[in-house]
Amino acid sequence: MFKHSLCGLITCGILVAVSGAAFAAGNPIAGKAKAFDCSGCHAVAGYRYLYPSNRVPKLGGQHAAYIVNALKEYKSGARPNPTMHANASTLSTQDMQDIAAFFASQKGQSGK
Ligand code: HEC
Repeated sequence: MFKHSLCGLITCGILVAVSGAAFAAGNPIAGKAKAFDCSGCHAVAGYRYLYPSNRVPKLGGQHAAYIVNALKEYKSGARPNPTMHANASTLSTQDMQDIAAFFASQKGQSGK
């Protein structure tokens, strides 16, 4: 009972899931530095869009796998967008995973 109240099943489950996901694929600490150039266009934690009417998608809180997939598609040209092709073409898979881990870790802090 006491142990259960300290460490609810859900809380522990989330902690394990978050740290496991973040460090298995990408490192959010390294990703933060690598994502510096992206922040001018994509809103990051605590930031608002520079141009509210601009159609730059929000990345904070996005699933890491979605971000990695999108970057791979922009790099290969499968998802055509000249701006993002230029941004993605210099990234290695590790860079993408680190950046994705960083943006995914922004859950609850961005938006609104
Ligand atoms: C010059 C502005 C600009 C910069 C810098 C930029 N992006 Fe983007 N990004 C965009 C725009 C505009 C789109 C929407 C493109 C489209 O319609 O497919 C986009 C789309 C994306 C998407 C797809 C999001 C979705 O919801 O589908 C991802 C992921 C992404 N960018 C990641 C990055 C990363 C990582 C960086 C830094 C390496 C970066 N971007 C730098 C403008 C930018």
